[in-house]
Order: sequence, then structure tokens, then C-alpha cells
Amino acid sequence: MTNPWRNPDALPADGLHSLAQFINSRADIPDQAQAHVALVEALSPQPGERLLDFGCGTGVIARRLAPLVGDPGAVVGVDISTGMLDFARTCGGPDHLRYEQYNGATLPFPDDSFDGGAMARTLLHVEDPHATLVELGRVVRPGGRLAILECDWGTMAVDQSDRALTRRILDWRTDTVDGNNWMGRQLVGRGLAAGWRIADIRVLTTIGRDETTTHFGSVRRCGELALQNGVIDQSEFDNWVGELDNRLAAGLFFASINEYILVARRQNA
Ligand SMILES: C[S@@+](CC[C@H](N)C(=O)[O-])C[C@H]1O[C@@H](n2cnc3c(N)ncnc32)[C@H](O)[C@@H]1O
Repeated sequence: MTNPWRNPDALPADGLHSLAQFINSRADIPDQAQAHVALVEALSPQPGERLLDFGCGTGVIARRLAPLVGDPGAVVGVDISTGMLDFARTCGGPDHLRYEQYNGATLPFPDDSFDGGAMARTLLHVEDPHATLVELGRVVRPGGRLAILECDWGTMAVDQSDRALTRRILDWRTDTVDGNNWMGRQLVGRGLAAGWRIADIRVLTTIGRDETTTHFGSVRRCGELALQNGVIDQSEFDNWVGELDNRLAAGLFFASINEYILVARRQNA
């Protein structure tokens, strides 16, 4: 399946705008906000630092970082998509927060330009994750750090009576839809391969039991996508999604997923 996150600018204008609106408003949903707070805490921004938000999208992380570094610090949000950055600029922010459009494999910043960087839900989508991590290691100064947030769809646990059908739908979603959905478990290996030192790896398990978190909508959407793509038939869809809807109505829906946060340090020269 085509991954719209790899190059959002290739979408029609209304599709790009919906994608931007989706990630921007998703950031306010409690499980997502909790993960963003944990990412920022793991990066531990200090006053006066220069920080990069790589794959910044609509700037949801950059806007959290900017007040923490203050002025004369700086936060630069970088994304491959001009549409995402245009949306980010409409969300406002202080003068020491700016947005620039680049592809992560070749950043135009001099060596050692930043004290650190954050990257949220982006590494799974980039065309060349290794080149991106190496390039981030060039622009972050020796001793500087990088905090990366990725979930891992292979850890999505859903309470459902049909185990075989649940595995079929979730495995298909994990292996096929929107990028490398095992990126969470691969962060340590990929960080080491790109020359980073691993300072910390954290896991945040988020739980959904109703519609106040993203879990129910995401899991239900798996069923819809599986139907649209011929992975399940209409009667399997009706049974699977029907049970999820009934569970939700009865207060018996349960899903959980792991979010991983890697804190890596650039080796001292
Ligand atoms: C799922 S969004 C995450 C955005 C934001 N970090 C957040 O958590 O809301 C992934 C972002 O990565 C960007 N992206 C994908 N490939 C990229 C690349 N090679 N270089 C820079 N940005 C890239 C996309 O344009 C998109 O904005």
C-alpha cells in the first residue's frame, strides 16, 4: 500500500490538509499527549539550547520544545513536506521557532549545529532510516542527544473472541499499512548501527477502554482497511467490527500498545 506519510505533498491539496489536521488534533488526545510529554522529558531540553524537531509535521513537538529552550535558544522544525510546514506556521509560535523544508537524508546544516534533536513517529516513514540517523549524528554536536518516539504495531493487544481473525487483521495492518510498524522494537539496533550511543530506552504502554484515546478508532480502522483491501470478507468484517462496537457500548473494549522512546547520545569525537 502507498504510504502517504512518506511524501504528503504528493497528495491532492484537500488530502494533505486532512492529514495535517489529523496529526495536529491527534496530539491533543490523552494517550498521544502522554507520549509527547514523555518524549520531551526524555530529551530534557535546557534553556539556550539549539534543538531540531526532525519530521516535525505540523509542529506538535517543536511547539512543546520552544518555551523550554527559550530565546536565545532555537528550535528548528524540519520536514519533507511544505504542506505540513505551511500548516505548522499557521499554528503560531515564538520567533526562536522556525520551520525548514528538507529531506532528512541530506540536511544542509553544518556539522555539530544542534545540541540535540527530537523525532516523533517519523523514522518508520522515511525512505532511508539509516542514512537519516547518520545524518542526524552529523548535525548534532558530540555529546548531544537524540530522543526518538515510535510505537510498535506488533504490540497492539486487542481483546476479541476470534483470535485467528484478530491476528490476521492486526498482522496484516502491521506488515502492510503506513511504513515500518516494527520501528519501535528496532530503535536500539538501528541507533547503534548508525553510530549513536544508547543512553536510555523507555517503554510507555497506553491503554484504551473507550473513545477518549486513539485505540478504538485505530483498531476499528484496521477492520475497515482489511475489508477494503480484500484481507477479510464482509461477514468477517461484520462479526469483527460488530463485536468491537458491542464491547465499546458495554464498557468491555480493551486495547493496548507499546510506545518506545530511545535516548541516544552522539559519541564524543
Ligand atoms: C506521522 S508524521 C509525524 C509528524 C510529527 N512528528 C508528529 O508527531 O505529529 C511523519 C512526518 O514525517 C515527514 N517525513 C517523511 N519522510 C521524511 C523525510 N525523508 N525527511 C523529512 N521528513 C519526512 C512527513 O512529511 C510527516 O510530516
